[in-house]
Amino acid sequence: MSFEKKILCIGAGYVGGPTMTVIADKCPQHKVTIVDINEEKIAAWQTDDLPIYEPGLLDVVKRTRGKNLFFSTDIPKEIDEADIIFVSVNTPTKTFGEGKGKASDLQYLEKTAHAIVEASNSSKIIIEKSTLPVRTAEALEKILNSNDKGIHFDVISNPEFLAEGTAIHDLENPDRVLIGSRETEEGLKARQTIVDIYKNWVSDERIIRSNVWSSELSKLVANAFLAQRISSINSISALCEHTGADVSEISRAIGADSRIGNKFLNASIGFGGSCFKKDILNLVYISESLGLTEVAEYWENVIKMNDYQEKRFVKRMLSTMFNTLANKKIVLFGFAFKANTGDTRETPAYYVAKMLLEEHANVYITDPKALKNAKIDLAEFGNRIKYVDDPYEAAKDADAVAIMTEWDLYKELDYKKIHDGMRKPAHIYDGRNILDHSKLKEIGFDTHVIGKHSDNI
Ligand code: UDX
Ligand code: UDX
Repeated sequence: MSFEKKILCIGAGYVGGPTMTVIADKCPQHKVTIVDINEEKIAAWQTDDLPIYEPGLLDVVKRTRGKNLFFSTDIPKEIDEADIIFVSVNTPTKTFGEGKGKASDLQYLEKTAHAIVEASNSSKIIIEKSTLPVRTAEALEKILNSNDKGIHFDVISNPEFLAEGTAIHDLENPDRVLIGSRETEEGLKARQTIVDIYKNWVSDERIIRSNVWSSELSKLVANAFLAQRISSINSISALCEHTGADVSEISRAIGADSRIGNKFLNASIGFGGSCFKKDILNLVYISESLGLTEVAEYWENVIKMNDYQEKRFVKRMLSTMFNTLANKKIVLFGFAFKANTGDTRETPAYYVAKMLLEEHANVYITDPKALKNAKIDLAEFGNRIKYVDDPYEAAKDADAVAIMTEWDLYKELDYKKIHDGMRKPAHIYDGRNILDHSKLKEIGFDTHVIGKHSDNI
């Protein structure tokens, strides 16, 4: 079978994997190949036990795999054959040197650019899918086009806005697709090629064209604004716990204002995930580098509020359990950074678990999809932490249960049965505001809710 275009993606992670699978599904006329330096990951993508958990993903993979979706570890061969290359390698926060703890570590991106130049024998369009600091395209262009093979690379920025847990839905029905390019004749032509791919399933008015710098910066700003909403409502949750106000009622009341909107207003133990903290730190670093101290401080406070929220949660446990957690059994319901994913990157549950261990609590963790990652993340604590699949089993003889992740499963449990098996007084801490609190109180729990004084339940 001959394909119109050969599309390659470098990086088979949480972004590259689902994104390219949906592109393959929507564009049967194109061949889509995904490569990764991690051979185990590529092997897993070819089984029914995919390397990431994402609702609906396996169905789309099964529809496309072997037809127009392929996985490979032969990176140079696939680069050489491709017309279009999506770069979706990870760009973590730097852990060393200048900008340590804030700037993006672009070493994988640069390595990938060099690999592209080395293996290519024809001109190609290179797409930044990874979230990158503004003006990275310039550096990429420099590396790519300083070749003596007489070939030319156009760099396009096409950031991905999918959220984990709803990735397939977000990819199939995006609010918008953003495609940034140089506004030269060649740049605009390359941009149109990428627009034409998305036009297979996205209506034209949802495809936003911009210059390459706006596109790069928009991704950082979108994540900063989303995270800022959570920090804003979380700051109000602290205020509510000291007054008669209820943060859920406040969310409902302010969210009804169409200028504010009702999404992303759930108070919680704090935001996690691979993007929010990393991207805000990146924004802070860029602002600092440009001497824009006030701008840097403004955004840094969004992160400070998140740290405060996590700490506040454990402090509240401490103060409501007679100021000692030593040798008390505390069970975390959920470890993933949000529901419907096994991803635990930057999960607030990690920081909560660590703080509980510092108080010498006996920590137990249960989660339907994230226990494997939890064990890896917390490996340094060895058997000081216990991992249990069944939440009822985990809660047996516990002093407290704390909801860390808003899995539907936890809304449906028999809390009377859980209460019966616990030590008394039995405490429950709802870090996600998902349970029926008056019912819990009726059962006999000491009930603690984010953004609500216990007397108000
Ligand atoms: C993505 C984006 O790329 C990142 O910029 C964004 O901010 C968060 O989401 P994600 O897909 O979540 O990253 O990362 P990950 O799941 O770690 O996937 C990256 C993949 O790239 C890994 O499988 C890794 O093995 C691969 N990789 C990394 C390469 O193939 N080559 C490299 O040189 C480096
Ligand atoms: C986010 C962005 O939504 C997405 O557009 C971008 O591409 C990557 O970063 P993701 O990290 O997958 O996606 O999850 P998201 O749904 O945004 O949740 C982030 C964190 O905020 C989670 O820990 C979640 O539990 C928390 N959250 C979200 C709240 O605490 N309250 C809310 O109201 C919403």
